[in-house]
Amino acid sequence: MAPVATTRVAITRGISPAIADCELTHLTRTPIDLDAARRQHAAYEATLAALGCRVERLEADPAAPDCVFVEDTALVFEELAVITRPGAVSRRRETPPVATALARYRRLEHIAADGTLDGGDVLVAGRRVFVGLTARTDEAGAASLARALDPAGYTLSTLAVDGVLHLKSAASVVAPGLLLIDPECVDPTAFADFDVVTVAPGEGPAANALRLAGTVLLSAGFPATRRKLEERGLAVRSVENAELAKAEGGLTCCSLIFDVAESAR
Ligand code: GLY
Repeated sequence: MAPVATTRVAITRGISPAIADCELTHLTRTPIDLDAARRQHAAYEATLAALGCRVERLEADPAAPDCVFVEDTALVFEELAVITRPGAVSRRRETPPVATALARYRRLEHIAADGTLDGGDVLVAGRRVFVGLTARTDEAGAASLARALDPAGYTLSTLAVDGVLHLKSAASVVAPGLLLIDPECVDPTAFADFDVVTVAPGEGPAANALRLAGTVLLSAGFPATRRKLEERGLAVRSVENAELAKAEGGLTCCSLIFDVAESAR
């Protein structure tokens, strides 16, 4: 049988003109240069395209300051997509446009209304799913996700997260079976079945890295962590993200990336 051709889609969203009013949990509010943020976001999208993604950018919502952080609104698996119920009430209006975009590609499930869950709290490593319990994601939200994923054979576990917004602020998959983590924020023993590389001292935000097409996208400004990844034989590309980092956004936060069969385009 002929192999099925696939297209890799990256859903992104424009930056809201209200980004200055973004939600914050651990950082002190500092001015965000909207023009610079938009330039950096456009360069990020260009990097995704250069690495093989077809970028589908949704329009920004002027009433949703955090709308650029699409990762929090949905989780896309091979078999289905799960629309989240963000923990910040201000962010709940972000989900419907993303659900509409994803409905072209996946069957949709939804996090039940008795819980909350942000996509940034969900780390998927093969068939293992780790859910960080944070100010945004609670046990009921994690249980709802577990119910949605159980028929597809995923195994879900929860862990504590300290000092950062989301689990993925402190842990990322950088290669099959290899995680990059900030041990000050998550307990490495939670990932006992995985190989782990830790961020260099003082480079905590580097832990939010985006693996795409065999390349690790790493926020610019973390040279020691970059060296550690390169010593592991990984190809690393730096991406400037300083403006959205002021809104507690990292590289994974700004896209939803998944493969679709050509017939589903
Ligand atoms: N500013 C990103 C968030 O708090 O959700």
